Amino acid sequence: MKGIGVSCVIFLLISIKCIHCAFTPADNYLIDCGSSTNTTINNRVFVADVSLSSTLTPSSNNLVTTSSSVPASYYGAALYQNARVFTVTSSYSFQINAHGRHFIRLYFFPSIYGNFNLTSTTFTVSTQDALLLDHFHPQANSAVVEEFLVNIISDTLILTFAQTGNNSIAFVNAIEVVSAPDTLIADTATIVNPPGTYRGLSDQLLETIYRVNMGGPQVSPNTDTLWRNWDTDQKFLLNSALSRSVNFTGKISYMDGTTEETAPDIVYSTATELAASNTSNALFNVTWQFDVEASSAYLIRFHFCDIVSLAAGNLYFNVYVNSWAVASNLDLSSKTFGQLATAVYMDYVLEANDASEKLGISIGPSVVNGVLPDGILNGLEIMKINGSGGSPATPSAGSKKNLVIILAPIFGVTAVAIVAVALCLAVRKRKLTTKQYSKSWVPFSINGFTSHSTGSRTSNGTAFTLGLNGNFGYRLSFAILQEATNNFDENWVIGVGGFGKVYKGELRDDTKVAVKRGNPKSQQGINEFHTEIELLSRLRHRHLVSLIGYCDEKNEMILVYEYMEKGTLKSHLYGSDMPSLNWQQRLEICIGAARGLHYLHTGQAKAIIHRDVKSANILLDETLLAKVADFGLSKTGPELDQTHVSTAVKGSFGYLDPEYFRRQQLTEKSDVYSFGVVLLEVLCARPVIDPTLPREMVNLAEWGMKWQKRGELEHIVDARIAGSIRPESLKKFGETIEKCLADSGIERPSMGDVLWNLEYALQLQDADAGGISEINSINRITELSPQLQNINAFESAPAGEAATALLNDLSDVSMSKVFSQLIKSEGR
Ligand SMILES: *[C@@H]1O[C@H](CO)[C@@H](O)[C@H](O)[C@H]1NC(C)=O
Ligand SMILES: *[C@@H]1O[C@H](CO)[C@@H](O)[C@H](O)[C@H]1NC(C)=O
Ligand SMILES: *[C@@H]1O[C@H](CO)[C@@H](O)[C@H](O)[C@H]1NC(C)=O
Ligand SMILES: *[C@@H]1O[C@H](CO)[C@@H](O)[C@H](O)[C@H]1NC(C)=O
Ligand SMILES: *[C@@H]1O[C@H](CO)[C@@H](O)[C@H](O)[C@H]1NC(C)=O
Ligand SMILES: *[C@@H]1O[C@H](CO)[C@@H](O)[C@H](O)[C@H]1NC(C)=O
Ligand SMILES: *[C@@H]1O[C@H](CO)[C@@H](O)[C@H](O)[C@H]1NC(C)=O
Repeated sequence: MKGIGVSCVIFLLISIKCIHCAFTPADNYLIDCGSSTNTTINNRVFVADVSLSSTLTPSSNNLVTTSSSVPASYYGAALYQNARVFTVTSSYSFQINAHGRHFIRLYFFPSIYGNFNLTSTTFTVSTQDALLLDHFHPQANSAVVEEFLVNIISDTLILTFAQTGNNSIAFVNAIEVVSAPDTLIADTATIVNPPGTYRGLSDQLLETIYRVNMGGPQVSPNTDTLWRNWDTDQKFLLNSALSRSVNFTGKISYMDGTTEETAPDIVYSTATELAASNTSNALFNVTWQFDVEASSAYLIRFHFCDIVSLAAGNLYFNVYVNSWAVASNLDLSSKTFGQLATAVYMDYVLEANDASEKLGISIGPSVVNGVLPDGILNGLEIMKINGSGGSPATPSAGSKKNLVIILAPIFGVTAVAIVAVALCLAVRKRKLTTKQYSKSWVPFSINGFTSHSTGSRTSNGTAFTLGLNGNFGYRLSFAILQEATNNFDENWVIGVGGFGKVYKGELRDDTKVAVKRGNPKSQQGINEFHTEIELLSRLRHRHLVSLIGYCDEKNEMILVYEYMEKGTLKSHLYGSDMPSLNWQQRLEICIGAARGLHYLHTGQAKAIIHRDVKSANILLDETLLAKVADFGLSKTGPELDQTHVSTAVKGSFGYLDPEYFRRQQLTEKSDVYSFGVVLLEVLCARPVIDPTLPREMVNLAEWGMKWQKRGELEHIVDARIAGSIRPESLKKFGETIEKCLADSGIERPSMGDVLWNLEYALQLQDADAGGISEINSINRITELSPQLQNINAFESAPAGEAATALLNDLSDVSMSKVFSQLIKSEGR
């Protein structure tokens, strides 16, 4: 078994494991059915259901006891001794304290209980919303736990047990209804065939069919972080001679969405590996085969953790579901910032029409040159989507299209404003004190607004709703915002656009904010405004600039954003006196922004297209953490009609997807194109359109691609960092740009792929971190051209000067309608 190269663990970023935050479920009902005494199983008290007879209707059902018993090695063996037998349809009801995902676990042991012969009974179990077990016929004299993950959205869960015929009797030995972490199941997964994004997982009922710890021991509920059971994998292996079990005694790291609740350490620290992985001619797959029901959809979750490599970037393998390759040349370290022994999981959906009675999961060697054949799998979960019977609700291709929301700034030029806010505040901050500013979004306390309310100005001005979607989207009173902006003081204006003005502001708790006040004459309706606020409020991500409130009093349409200390990415690249960023910092910023965009595209049930991706819309906080700004202002949702989409050409000159010009059709890939231009900008540190340069150099995208295609991208790299970029890293970066800038959208990668490639580029740069920082520390800021300074001036220029400024840097301005028409006619 191989060891682990600690020296390769370069990035610890967000991987610090939370040791003290074991998950505490908000709802935790454990019931020992048919028992008159409570039963404690590994510190979990299963309460006798006689003590809760009020939750069972009718409560006159029989309590029964069996004389046969379940081996003590079973988790909760004692629970199977008693059962509750239902000779009429009966229900348990549970008060739900917190909506969301819950595990429902039902324990059954079909045996002879006194006068009841339950060995071959058939019955049905359902909630008020879904059928859990349809004509369920548990196998005689064997204990079984049926587990479901149900998204409960009502305040009461009613579990009903019903007969299926005259001779049928329903029963149950124990019940668990336990909250699961909200993050456990994301809304999206990758469809196995044909590849695509499956959305709407959050609303689906999931039934656990298999949960397996590859290459390791069985994990019983008392050792799992969420009381799950993990089976061993040997019995599923088609040919166990081709594989071997490996284990790891070091510490497992979790990052970026994985936690110990995703799967416990023991799952990640054991794996099944391709055997003879060091003999390069042994090319074979290792396959596990599972019996499943045909014509049912399955969620397949792979758990990976590279516990076998000595260094990052050495393990590449393929992953198959049946004969479909779901991941080719998978490099786990590209998902973990090059860190080994770090948990990764990947979700796939096998759609009903692709499921046959045998489900084959394989890992196989990659044929990447110079890589030894190898492959691992640490854990696997197979869950049936939409539980029993019926055809699973899988989104059709048509409906998926309709689910795309297109976001267009209602206010038009918003980026400029945010830039200005950030710049001004950053400058001001430097001059003033270093008052502590919390980088994370701080929810406003009710106190922050009400207890200080004095005088008539705020007496009715503290409307405060926790509405919309839970904790987000605070409604702020007009009075509060008047106060925060010194009564919308003209001197506090830091940006102007067609929509109105942006003011700097400071709330009573000293939180600095950017207050964007819509022009009252704007045609935008208040209802539309609300729809948008609701959408914006739901978009919460480390790499998105947060909306922290809004105001709709007196027909006002005001948005309040968190403010970003370090301004725009653009200002750090050129046109300002900000210190230059080194290559690693630039890559990390690109990775952060890519994460934000990836979330917009995939994090919600409806994909969100940014439409105006540019370096001026990527803001940096005081730690240089990148956040995407100006993503949120949408036209209406799915009902958006096509003509509407195509007439409103938005975006910024120089970043605009050429296909969008031609076809007037927006997809996520339009953002990918624009992001490709940003990547070039980051590399070359020059404006995307620079009319002062020789003709062939004016458009950065064209100019950059010319060099990339010649394989000589290094010629146009920002001189300040050119010496410090490792050629492999540059090569990867250049290839990524080239793919993003592909002429047609379908050839471009998804934001997720872009993200992996950038992480890989970073890893290639880090492969030999020594010496690089010295090179960067001697970077000096080169003299600015007057033209670049003009650009900067524009960013805080009053509206009247905007037209002039346009000539200087077109890329700074989101296109107005006039502008779009100009482009359309030129495009033909
Ligand atoms: C079982 O536990 C519950 C809750 O802890 C308690 O209210 C009840 O009295 C106990 N019942 C018995 C029979 O000990
Ligand atoms: C219980 O029912 C099964 C199936 O109907 C039958 O085979 C078995 O003999 C019965 N056992 C008893 C003790 O009646
Ligand atoms: C169930 O019982 C009813 C009434 O006793 C009878 O009419 C019906 O045929 C029975 N059904 C079966 C499947 O035995
Ligand atoms: C780890 O591997 C060693 C040697 O292969 C084996 O003895 C041990 O039982 C394994 N531990 C686990 C938890 O699988
Ligand atoms: C594979 O590597 C192990 C040590 O890592 C070594 O003991 C073994 O002989 C190698 N097998 C082959 C076939 O080269
Ligand atoms: C592994 O399985 C996949 C899918 O069935 C197949 O395409 C591939 O050729 C196999 N690889 C090897 C090395 O057998
Ligand atoms: C399961 O699928 C059926 C059929 O598409 C649908 O009507 C039902 O609402 C789904 N149930 C759940 C719980 O999602």
